[in-house]
Amino acid sequence: MSAPVTLFGKEYPADGNTNTPPSIQAKVGRNLHLQKDHPLATLREIIETHFKGFTRIQPESPVVTVFQNFDELGFAPDHPGRSLTDSYYLNKEHMLRTHTSAHEVEAYKTGADAFLIAADVYRRDEIDSSHYPVFHQMEGMRHWDVTDVKQLTEQLRAENAKLAEELAACPIEITDISNVGPENPLQECHDPELATEMAQNLKHSLNGMIFKLFGHITADGQPLKVRWIDAFFPWTSPSFEVEVWYNDEWLEILGCGVVVQKTLERGGVGHKSGWAFGLGLERIAMVLFDIPDIRLFWSQDPRFLSQFKQGEITAFKPYSKYPPCYKDMSFWLPEETQEGIKPWHENDYCEVVRDVAGDLVENVTLIDDFTHPKTGKRSLCYRLNYRSMDRSLNNEEVNALQDKVVGRVVKEMGIEMR
Ligand code: PHE
Repeated sequence: MSAPVTLFGKEYPADGNTNTPPSIQAKVGRNLHLQKDHPLATLREIIETHFKGFTRIQPESPVVTVFQNFDELGFAPDHPGRSLTDSYYLNKEHMLRTHTSAHEVEAYKTGADAFLIAADVYRRDEIDSSHYPVFHQMEGMRHWDVTDVKQLTEQLRAENAKLAEELAACPIEITDISNVGPENPLQECHDPELATEMAQNLKHSLNGMIFKLFGHITADGQPLKVRWIDAFFPWTSPSFEVEVWYNDEWLEILGCGVVVQKTLERGGVGHKSGWAFGLGLERIAMVLFDIPDIRLFWSQDPRFLSQFKQGEITAFKPYSKYPPCYKDMSFWLPEETQEGIKPWHENDYCEVVRDVAGDLVENVTLIDDFTHPKTGKRSLCYRLNYRSMDRSLNNEEVNALQDKVVGRVVKEMGIEMR
């Protein structure tokens, strides 16, 4: 993996951090959120309609500096998200953005007061029906000139009263168990009354958006249930997460908060204050369009794409399923650290599986984890479930994939097959 990576005509020289395989590079530029009729594009559009007058920003390349993705937003130097097991690096300086927040500061620099950023983001992660290494996020920010604190507080109070009235007329039940206080404080540099109105404006705006998105799924006469809880993000305070009650559980929808003043200063707008939120489009689209597997978003099969029409939310009708094919893989982990072999991490293993099998792998589950009582050697067994969305796989083909995975993990991860 030491070849330089070229993306959007720019070459990024490889170094010890380079860990973006060709299978991931191939996803760059697909822009599902911009593809007409695609569920992700419809969802993006509905959100854009809710936030009228917001300036839309479409960063072309997903490559950002590590500084933009993390440091500029105040992530600690040892934040786990920075690790090579969690993020895709082109080299020590450049990476594929892990969230749309990586573009907040440059957006502030454009001088507008309200923004929406929709883009593809990249994270190394587990393999299951709701995780994929590339997904799409939408970021929204709004801020105001705070020179006249009193006037702005009044203005927001009036706007908030109006928004509250609109929400009161909707069948939505909002529970707010967030707790602004020492653990999740208002910022000292903010006027507390004004900051409270800003947080309120954030909450009303997002509750309205959530009702627009989910209001129709509660057909059984029940109001839509929404819950606000405390959260932590290095560039917002106070910070919140919003959850929606769906299929008998709380589904996390988005993260948000009042933007840390230092972040706005970095964007050259220290005289303004406001809020920001970020949400994942796939998670919401899976609910709204009844899409059972996140890989379907990437399908180029007309049986998937032709089902949807721009601007319309319709339930996905599954097309013929193909049989799964399980292959188990048991191995011993290396006993001690070996030259050139990184410590074991499941994400690295999954990365190799993805690189070899691409979308032909449906899930990877640990089915046995055993440490030998005498030797202390640890053995793991993973079940790899191969299944294509579009065709039947034959045993030979799956065996060949499995052999290839074995060959690579033995070589790259220092494991010993059992
Ligand atoms: N970027 C955050 C995430 O990916 C979400 C977020 C955006 C939180 C903006 C606060 C403000 O989880």
